[in-house]
Amino acid sequence: MDLPTTTKAVRVHTPGGPEALVYDDYPLEEVGPGDVLVEIDTASVSGWDVKYRAGLLSGITLPGRRALPLPQQLGREGAGTVVATGAAVTRFRPGDRVAAVVHPENPDSLETIRGLGNLSKGIDVPGHASFGSYAKHVVRDERMWFPLPDHVDLEQAAVTLWPYGTSHRLLRDRLRVGLGDTLLVCGASGGMGEATIRLARLAGARVVATTRHAAKADGLRELGAEEVVVTEDPEAAVAAIRAWSGTDGVSHAVDYTGNATLLRLAIDALRLGGALCPASGAQVPPGPSPFTVNDFTRLEMTVVGVRGARHADALAVLDLLAHGRISNRIAARFPLAEAAKAHALLEQSTDLVGRVVLKP
Ligand SMILES: NC(=O)c1ccc[n+]([C@@H]2O[C@H](COP(=O)([O-])OP(=O)(O)OC[C@H]3O[C@@H](n4cnc5c(N)ncnc54)[C@H](OP(=O)(O)O)[C@@H]3O)[C@@H](O)[C@H]2O)c1
Repeated sequence: MDLPTTTKAVRVHTPGGPEALVYDDYPLEEVGPGDVLVEIDTASVSGWDVKYRAGLLSGITLPGRRALPLPQQLGREGAGTVVATGAAVTRFRPGDRVAAVVHPENPDSLETIRGLGNLSKGIDVPGHASFGSYAKHVVRDERMWFPLPDHVDLEQAAVTLWPYGTSHRLLRDRLRVGLGDTLLVCGASGGMGEATIRLARLAGARVVATTRHAAKADGLRELGAEEVVVTEDPEAAVAAIRAWSGTDGVSHAVDYTGNATLLRLAIDALRLGGALCPASGAQVPPGPSPFTVNDFTRLEMTVVGVRGARHADALAVLDLLAHGRISNRIAARFPLAEAAKAHALLEQSTDLVGRVVLKP
């Protein structure tokens, strides 16, 4: 069988607006002995992709990760069907349905052997330091793919591992959200927000979500937020969240915006002994920290970080997907060639709730 030697793909060569996304034919890597060639059915579009394209991540360095290269083929995750496998591949055959590992663990590192794989170094994350899923064909090591049961929808699988994997780790291991807890999600209308709302509800927590746009409130309620607060007036928003909590503030909060005003709002909405996870990756725009030493004493506040997900989180969320316990709202689909339109929608919409995907 003749394998493709080029692929249609979308790459960023120079940071800029949506027009910086270049759809073209690009050379495809050869399928090495341990590689799997996949025809992509669906590629996810995320806030990370938009920031990468715009050059807003250029100052970010993550310990143990290579710098963010250009040109880059964006797409943190995707799903598709195996076309061919290298001679040494044992886990996959042509025709198998797969999703990409978005938080790969370095299989040879001590951290992974100790079960701390998200802290492993020396491995490239797709759509981050190695090429991602904005392509018709993708070649990757077999260890970078998860098998999918036949009944799991490829489009749903393509947008599950990154947000749900991270949220699973965040809620279960870092914030430890459980039955009867109250969780504030700041910046809830992206993929991370939806996954966090749905998983927190599954864990038995009540959720209040924030947005800058009143037109997103109904959509966020449909995802499972019991209350939605518009943050135009931060003081009024804090008062509304505290009133909704039924106690003196929420027990847990997560911020996906990196915005200093919303991080401050999250602290002010916490009850005594509350816990916060600032999960956005960076404060945008950079500036003075919104935390004070006094916050820790006054509230006995706990602040936890999160760095992606572990293999076990990925397995857990794929199992939840296969059992119909979680899902993703697909807000818009675009052909791969129209990736620029997908980015423009994500950046400019004031009423979009749910995922935007590309269909190669
Ligand atoms: N720590 C980790 O391991 C990890 C893993 C995965 C993702 N992340 C991070 O999680 C964040 C969320 O990702 P995502 O793809 O779900 O969503 P996103 O589109 O980057 O942002 C989430 C929401 O935040 C709000 N927002 C965006 N920019 C804002 C600004 N300047 N000021 C105030 N609010 C703003 C928007 O909600 P409204 O329009 O409704 O206001 C947006 O829908 C990203 O920063 C991503 O890098 C971290």
